[in-house]
Amino acid sequence: MSNSVFLDTLSGKKTNRPPVWFMRQAGRILPSYQKLKLTHNFNSLMKNKELASKVTLMPINDLGVDAAILFSDILIIPESMGMNLEFTDNGPKFYNPIVNSGSNVFSFDPSKLEHVYSNIKQIKKDNSLIPLIGFCGGPLTTFLFMFRGNEKDKSFNSALKFFYSNKKESLKIIEQITEASVEYVKGQIDSGIDCFQLFETYCGIIPSSMYKQLILPFSIKILDVARDKNIPTIFFPKNFNDGLKYINKDICDYVSIDWNLSLEYAREIVDKKVGIQGNMNPRLFYSSNEEINKYLNSLVTFGEKNYDWVFNLGHGFLPDIDYKKVKYVVEWIKETNWNR
Ligand code: CP3
Repeated sequence: MSNSVFLDTLSGKKTNRPPVWFMRQAGRILPSYQKLKLTHNFNSLMKNKELASKVTLMPINDLGVDAAILFSDILIIPESMGMNLEFTDNGPKFYNPIVNSGSNVFSFDPSKLEHVYSNIKQIKKDNSLIPLIGFCGGPLTTFLFMFRGNEKDKSFNSALKFFYSNKKESLKIIEQITEASVEYVKGQIDSGIDCFQLFETYCGIIPSSMYKQLILPFSIKILDVARDKNIPTIFFPKNFNDGLKYINKDICDYVSIDWNLSLEYAREIVDKKVGIQGNMNPRLFYSSNEEINKYLNSLVTFGEKNYDWVFNLGHGFLPDIDYKKVKYVVEWIKETNWNR
């Protein structure tokens, strides 16, 4: 056994409790992060390795989670391909979004990702014991955001219209996203990440059979970079629904389940060799302590039997969640007797 319940679980060892971490734990709910945001924007935090490391490690100190996730964003891939990105108060905005067919020329500049690699090295220097999760966006999710020139329009309607009416060109762009992502994952691994998660948050925006046929081969290409270097992989195909039956060990080591499905159902349809991560509904943190306790108690039967399970959310935190409730959940997971 190592001294990490997270890495032990991922490598198939039997631990006495499930590990716990949260999607979007690094930059949203923590008062210490919100305080830092008063004087720094996302970019200035990302470009300062001491601060990026500090934010990455905040949830370890403030919440007591078992793993850290790199403070970065999925949209730095389009940025490295030449797109001009700003994080506004209303969300991300590209000044040169994809609009028309035939006018999209991208040129990947790997040097635009180098600050992430020095951030990773700094995090490992500041805390060599805590496992560090690297990540990038799934090819479909990244593609959809490349159409967001108006940060207030959250619909992806124009992206989907383009996708359906220009499949060949769309897939060409998705291939370019994949090529840049492959380099990015290599760079993250060489810099020291211990685990890799692929965030395909909008997987469910097209039918699961279409995702499997057209996009999944690209996602596998990205995941394979980590697999080939013996870095455990987690795939988060949100709202993949019955598509989860396509998930097997050739794709990923763990699959992250969204909050629409029950863990028991997901366990039934996902290949037995693949572990499960998830899937607390983040909005449950708005409920009473009593309801939260009821939910937590309902997990014990699943946790008793399933050693290959990582506790997490079914999607990232919402910014106005009370971190004290989150801290309570972490303590509960760590202190409960899981009858293992
Ligand atoms: O745990 C973490 O927070 C780690 C870092 C992380 C960020 N984004 C930081 C961030 C991770 C893992 C992401 C992933 C991400 N980014 C996804 C996939 C997961 C998910 O939540 O669905 C998506 C779709 C994005 C795209 C994105 N980036 C959006 C829609 C927004 C605006 C809304 C928001 O989250 O604030 C961002 C900005 C962003 N990403 C911020 C942070 C800390 C806020 C930037 C700011 O306040 O200036």
